[in-house]
Amino acid sequence: MCGIVGYIGHREAYPVVLKGLKRLEYRGYDSAGVAIYDGKNIKLSKTKGKVADLETRVKDEITVDGSLAIGHTRWATHGEPNDVNSHPHYSNSGDLVIIHNGIIENYEPLKQELINRGYKFQSDTDTEVLVNLIEDVKKNENVKLGKAVQIALNQVVGAYAIAVFDKNKPDEIVVARLGSPLVIGIGDEEFFIASDATPFIEYTNNAIYLEDEEMAIVRRGKKVKVRKIKDDSLVDPYVQELQLNLEQIEKGGYDHFMLKEIYEQPRAILDTFRGRMLSNDGIIRMAGVDDNIEKFLNAQRILIVACGTSWHAGLVAEYVFENLTRTPVEVEYASEFRYRNPVITEKDVVIAISQSGETADTLAAIKLAKSKGAFVFGVCNVVGSSISRETNAGAYTHAGPEIGVASTKAFTTQITVLTLIALKLAQKKGTISTSEFHGYLSEMDAIPAKVEKTLESDEHVKAISSIYKDATNFLYLGRGYNFPVALEGALKLKEISYIHAEGYPAAEMKHGPIALIDEQMPVVVIATRKGHYEKVVSNIQEIKSRKGKIIAVVMQGDTTIRKIADYVIEIPETLELLTPLLTTIPLQLLSYYIAVMRNCNVDQPRNLAKSVTVE
Ligand code: AGP
Ligand code: GLU
Repeated sequence: MCGIVGYIGHREAYPVVLKGLKRLEYRGYDSAGVAIYDGKNIKLSKTKGKVADLETRVKDEITVDGSLAIGHTRWATHGEPNDVNSHPHYSNSGDLVIIHNGIIENYEPLKQELINRGYKFQSDTDTEVLVNLIEDVKKNENVKLGKAVQIALNQVVGAYAIAVFDKNKPDEIVVARLGSPLVIGIGDEEFFIASDATPFIEYTNNAIYLEDEEMAIVRRGKKVKVRKIKDDSLVDPYVQELQLNLEQIEKGGYDHFMLKEIYEQPRAILDTFRGRMLSNDGIIRMAGVDDNIEKFLNAQRILIVACGTSWHAGLVAEYVFENLTRTPVEVEYASEFRYRNPVITEKDVVIAISQSGETADTLAAIKLAKSKGAFVFGVCNVVGSSISRETNAGAYTHAGPEIGVASTKAFTTQITVLTLIALKLAQKKGTISTSEFHGYLSEMDAIPAKVEKTLESDEHVKAISSIYKDATNFLYLGRGYNFPVALEGALKLKEISYIHAEGYPAAEMKHGPIALIDEQMPVVVIATRKGHYEKVVSNIQEIKSRKGKIIAVVMQGDTTIRKIADYVIEIPETLELLTPLLTTIPLQLLSYYIAVMRNCNVDQPRNLAKSVTVE
């Protein structure tokens, strides 16, 4: 995820683009860049760091006059955040320049073809492949930029919002979208291009939101022409009148980043699949795993180290890995692991999980494991982060920037990546049959839509939240794959609403926590149909007999628990192993609404920080 901005019109373009980038910085902030056309040449400046760093660099490097410019604030997916990988990217001839938000999934074969044809690449990005593909098409087919973009995009698999211009035809910017947002602001003899409308709301209220698979030629002094990328058919664009305030749109219309990030989960999980899970072909492709497959297959044990929510994702992974791959797994708090003189050998594979990639305890655990000769694999969200650099190999979660301190989409995408790895290893080891493997893949494929469906419980969860918002304690219970989800639900509530909450394996309740149950105690029970269902039903009865209040997360159509629980929240049917991806959602919403109703600072809860870089 990143922010893109463009301007073509009668004003000085650079100040408009720079201000726009600052407003879009919430979408990504590891590097930034601009390209300005000054009437003769393209002037380009880019840097690792924030938009403020770009501003300083621009002052030193280029003059900023010109009425056409594009700019980018990056959240790296391919290639670490450094100056060279920052956008905009030139084509080989230097004629074309592009900004891109998204992932070109098939960039590797495309890059190889272009290399064979003599193209050279400066960066590690997928984006530079796209701009050269456009250039190649333009030359070979002898077509204009718009047509070249269209032909090139028809060869591309992935997600994109792009803006590209040609220095030999500097009266137009070509834009296109699939899977990443792109909006065109229509001013008086001027046009704005952006990932959302914040960069231009002071200039115009009229905007065209491009739909997926549409492209547009934004030409100085002309009407915007929108076409379908696939078949070239013209689309009559709908010009929308915007009624917005700035704050609102930065959060995409949501009141808080946390809620926005909860709602981004279907998209985030899909982005995690991109280029990796080819369910129709029965293939999981993950370079970090493929390149080190022997290490994984020969591992005598997998050790997972992480903190907080990432540790919970690790616990889910323990159940998933052991069930699918039959390799023993241990999950450790990074902070404990590093100080207890753990037994680690060269035959261990260590998986370190971290959203930020900067958590000090996890980083120290990695260093320790490496010093003992273990192979260390990272699962991080932030590209180029310390942990992603320190590990021997890894896989990014591609969740996009997570700004709310309470982790939401990072958790579900971590589980997604780890499940993909486990499935891949199970297939290689033969610990699951081919038909089971295909069954898992097709059900994984359905997960983003099922998360979307689960989000429909929003209003219902909100109503439940209003009933229990003043509780002083909460208990969360789950079994099997959903025991870690119970822990995660409790952590979410603690973090943002400051209500004391505990997560337990449901069966452990009778060994102690049951003493806490009275009519004041809300108990959230995750009771999916295949997860030791009868036993969990008995646990619910035990709570009920002691007058506890039951909020049950169940699978669609469950009638048994509906009769006993006070409130029931349904998730769509799925394989038990994949239920954490769905059961987590209502628990996130519950903690969110309770915190809002208690007037807590949801995005920046007291005493916490987004990345914990101290021990
Ligand atoms: C989650 O909601 C927390 N804010 C926290 O527990 C977090 O998961 C933990 O600090 C680990 O962070 P990391 O994933 O960035 O390493
Ligand atoms: N895939 C591109 C890159 O890594 C764009 C990422 C983004 O959307 O910020 O540079």
